[in-house]
Amino acid sequence: MISALLKRPRRNRKSPAIRSLIQESRLHPHDLVAPLFVVEGQKVHREVKSLPDVFHLSLDQLLLECHNLAEHDIQTVLLFPVIDPSLKDEKGSYALQADNLLHRAISSIKSHFPKMTVMVDVALDPYTSHGHDGLINEEFEVLNDPTVEVLQEMACLLAEAGADVVAPSDMMDGRIKAIRAALDESNFIEVSTLSYAAKYASAFYGPFRNAVGSSNLVGDKCGYQMNPANVKEALLEAKLDEEEGADMLLIKPGLPYLDVLAKVKEQTNLPVGIYQVSGEYAQLHLAAKANLMQFEKGLMETLTAMKRAGADFIISYGSLQAAKLLNDTPF
Ligand code: PBG
Repeated sequence: MISALLKRPRRNRKSPAIRSLIQESRLHPHDLVAPLFVVEGQKVHREVKSLPDVFHLSLDQLLLECHNLAEHDIQTVLLFPVIDPSLKDEKGSYALQADNLLHRAISSIKSHFPKMTVMVDVALDPYTSHGHDGLINEEFEVLNDPTVEVLQEMACLLAEAGADVVAPSDMMDGRIKAIRAALDESNFIEVSTLSYAAKYASAFYGPFRNAVGSSNLVGDKCGYQMNPANVKEALLEAKLDEEEGADMLLIKPGLPYLDVLAKVKEQTNLPVGIYQVSGEYAQLHLAAKANLMQFEKGLMETLTAMKRAGADFIISYGSLQAAKLLNDTPF
């Protein structure tokens, strides 16, 4: 027999009940945000090729999905429109059309599910023919200040349609201040801004770009999205957005950037969310398909890791599935 050990940490792991008793972080469906893709049409419920178990939904199906989410205790959705290529142009003009697909989707959800929190991305990429998040010049450089002016108008239209939270995701400078001022001026004082404060130029957005049809991108987004090698820059971005009046911050992608999340959390008292992006989600499915892991376990482990690193909320394509698992056995 080995001599008496002073510490035997395994005692705290000896039964499911004890393990659960001392669990430090715990997911809850209320932490989860479900991203949803909206398309024109009726009764469209079509699986996105690049994202297993994620669907393109027409407005009628979108409402059914919101019902389903609410039944499983998910109270926040993040909407993305999938725009017909014939409506895209260099300036992303369709974003500013009053009765566009996204505006109809927001008002329809809010009229049927007034308690559901509706978040929307504010960026031009679903609407531009070149796939960039903003207005460009002849060299395909994204122009900061003219883009911010469009985002101001876009945010007000989204607020008008009923959005609760507008989430600028384009990484232009000064957009939070400008959007906040525009919202306040139009009396949308209760509409929140969620800033994608640290959004990295990531390879993990691939399946999303297929899903919204922006993968024909000309060039790359390195002139505005962040370099994956940097963390101090993320702290600067987060600080500026806080000073500009952001209500919440977001880190994106998720798992490869947990250190960024933890450091931003140390710096701010604002709520900070994290986005488990399309490539991260697709990887889990592909690994499961190759019999390398169980999808459900991989999903819950990655989401829990985000919670442990300090996330106040998590956006994931697996939110509904996670909520179902949580309702069965709290993780
Ligand atoms: C851009 C935007 C992106 C995502 C959401 N909005 C990334 C991009 O194309 O640069 C990606 C989300 C995901 O991969 O799940 N406004």
